[in-house]
Amino acid sequence: MSDGYLWYEGIPFVTTGFTAEVLREVRESFVFKDEDVLTVTYLKSGTNWLIEILCLIHSKGDPRWIQSVPIWERSPWVETEYGYNMLKNREGPRLISSHLPTQLIPKSLFSSKTKVLYLVRNPRDTLLSGYFFWRSSKFIKNPESLEQYFEWFIQGNVPYGSWFDHTHGWMSMKGKENVLILSYEELKQDTRSTVEKICQFLGKKLEPEELNSLLKNSSFQVMRENKMSNYSLLQGEYLDKNALITRKGISGDWKNYFTVAQAETFDKIFQEKMGDLPQELFPWE
Ligand code: A3P
Repeated sequence: MSDGYLWYEGIPFVTTGFTAEVLREVRESFVFKDEDVLTVTYLKSGTNWLIEILCLIHSKGDPRWIQSVPIWERSPWVETEYGYNMLKNREGPRLISSHLPTQLIPKSLFSSKTKVLYLVRNPRDTLLSGYFFWRSSKFIKNPESLEQYFEWFIQGNVPYGSWFDHTHGWMSMKGKENVLILSYEELKQDTRSTVEKICQFLGKKLEPEELNSLLKNSSFQVMRENKMSNYSLLQGEYLDKNALITRKGISGDWKNYFTVAQAETFDKIFQEKMGDLPQELFPWE
């Protein structure tokens, strides 16, 4: 299509790293194993932060793995050609990431005991974070203004489609024994307790010094300096010179950018599209 996306089953994908063949094969043939841990998010929700935490749980707080292997190799994105090929041949237990909506996730997930962590974030912050990220990227049409990106986001004309549909889909998994729903806001507000909750869900126990090391090494400041996690390795070919995924790392930054009219429009749309779900799922509302 002329907008530069690869449209697959009604969802737009970027053309770099994605093909319809792989998306189809992933959906039909990728086999999730019971011992896998899957991180799912709508993009710009704090995905890489959660992955960093999971890696540090895996290494018991030892930072050597996160300092020596790029984050997309530690927990590959199953829907990308690169990630799929890497994961297919990997022995378990595997860390796996995805931004896929429920209707495109590998079918095998639904008959496995794979532990699924779904991280949700205030979509206003997700929108803002996406705006800055896509502006600095070299592989999709860059939004010219926040106003323009706001429209694209509301319409779902952004990579992986509508936040509202994505979140609806994954929230319907709430209550399943193998699914933990988390929010960026709770992770930010009380990182220690949220990490303890994650450990409990995964059946992992960290010693106090291991947990302290995890908290230090997954902090915004340390992640920002870690070239294996901050995406600086992609600068040049895929991202602008100084682009990093660790932009600001706070909740509520949208308030510094949205106009009053945009805030009101968003409130209205949120209510229309998400009003049927229990509001405690959205701690920022
Ligand atoms: P901002 O652009 O609002 O700063 P994703 O990993 O899904 O692409 O999400 C990126 C967002 O997560 C960015 O938000 C980024 O700053 C934030 N983030 C990354 N690491 C973080 C950390 N250690 N603590 C808090 N936020 C973090």
